[in-house]
Amino acid sequence: MKALIAAGGRATRLRPITWTINKHLIPMTNRPMLAHAIDKIVEAGITDIIVSVNPGETDSMRAALGDGSAWGARLTYLEQRGGALGVAHVVANAEDLLRGEKFLFYLGDNIILGSLKKFVDRFLDEELDCMLAFSRVKDPQRFGVPEFAEDGKTLLRVIEKPAHPPSDFAVTGIYLYNDRYFDGFFSIKPSSRGEYEISDVNSWFVENGKVGYEEITGWWKDTGTPDALLEGNALMMDDMPREQFRVDVDVPDSAQVQGLVKIGKGTVIGEKVLIRGPVVIGEHCQIDNAYIGPHTSIGDGASVKNAEVEHSIIFPGASIDTKRRIVSSLIGKNAIVHDAVQTLPRSGSRLVIGDSSSVEL
Ligand code: DAU
Repeated sequence: MKALIAAGGRATRLRPITWTINKHLIPMTNRPMLAHAIDKIVEAGITDIIVSVNPGETDSMRAALGDGSAWGARLTYLEQRGGALGVAHVVANAEDLLRGEKFLFYLGDNIILGSLKKFVDRFLDEELDCMLAFSRVKDPQRFGVPEFAEDGKTLLRVIEKPAHPPSDFAVTGIYLYNDRYFDGFFSIKPSSRGEYEISDVNSWFVENGKVGYEEITGWWKDTGTPDALLEGNALMMDDMPREQFRVDVDVPDSAQVQGLVKIGKGTVIGEKVLIRGPVVIGEHCQIDNAYIGPHTSIGDGASVKNAEVEHSIIFPGASIDTKRRIVSSLIGKNAIVHDAVQTLPRSGSRLVIGDSSSVEL
C-alpha cells in the first residue's frame, strides 16, 4: 500500500505563524507536526509515502523531513498543481502515482494518539473500496459529517460542514481508498466555496462501493487553531516514550527538574530554575531564573529568563524575559517578549507585531 499526506493549503487560522512556516511543519514536542503523522503511517506498515505540498514548497518540506530514511521509508514530494483546490483534489493530483494502488490518505493537520494498524488491516481483509474513521465531536458543523439511516448504522452519505449536522460525528482526515477513487472524483463538481470536497467523494463511495467505518475512540484532533495545536502538543508530550525524556546537560544544584523532562545538548540551565514536566527543551537554549511549567516545548536556541512559561510552544530562537506569566501561547521564531525597561512613559507597552498577530495583555 501507499500513503498520501495532504500538507498544502492556506492555514489562515494559524496566522501569523503560518506567514513564514507551512502549518504542517509547526513544531510539536519540538518535531515537525508531519513527523508524527509519518510515525503513525510507518507503524501501520506503509513506507511508500507521497507528501502533497503547495506549489513551490518542495524544498522547504524536504529540508525539514528528508527522504524518509530516518523512518526506513521513502518520501516523495508532489506539488498540488493549481494550489489548494480542495482536499479531494489533493488525491486527484496524485493520480499518476496512485493508479492501481490501495492507499491511505492522511490530512497532515490531523493528529491521533492510537495506532492505524487495525484500521488498515480491516480495509484489506474485507476488501473494502473505502474506509472512514469517525470521531464524536462537540462541533460537527466544522467537519464532514456522516448521516445514518434510522437503524443508526447504515451510512447514507457524508455532508461537508452542515449547518444542521445529522449526527454528532466528524469524519476524520484519515481515509483508505482503492483506485475507484478517481471514478468518484471525476463525477463531482467544486462546492459553493470553490473546493473539491472529500465528503462528496465519500458520498459517491457510499452509493457506488463497499464502504466500512470505524469510530476512533482514542484521541483525535485537527490542529487548525492555536488552542487545538497546544492541546495536541500537550497530548503528544504525554504520549512520548519515557526513554526519550533525557537530560543531556548539567543541572546546577540550585535548579530543580521534576517529572518527565527532555533537555538537548548545549542548553544552559542557570540558577533558580524550576522545570516541571512534561517539558521538552531543545539544544543551545538558555534557561535562567525561570519556571517552565507542564506541556511546554522550547525550540533550539531559545532563551527564557526571569519568566514563567506554561502550556506553550516556544519556537526556535525566541527570547522571553518578562514578569508576566506566559500561558497557552505560541511564540514564533526569533520573537522577543521582554518587559519594557527603557520605554517612556514606563506604563507603556511597545509592540512590533506582525500581520494577523494576536496579543492578550
Ligand atoms: O480534519 C477533518 C476534516 O478535514 C474533515 O472532516 C472534512 O470533511 C474535510 O473537508 C477537512 O476539512 P477542513 O476544513 O479541516 O479542511 P482544510 O481546508 O483544513 O484542509 C485539511 C488538510 O488538507 C490540511 O492539512 C491542509 C490540506 N489541504 C487542504 C486543501 C483545501 C491541502 O493539502 N490542499 C488543499 O487544497
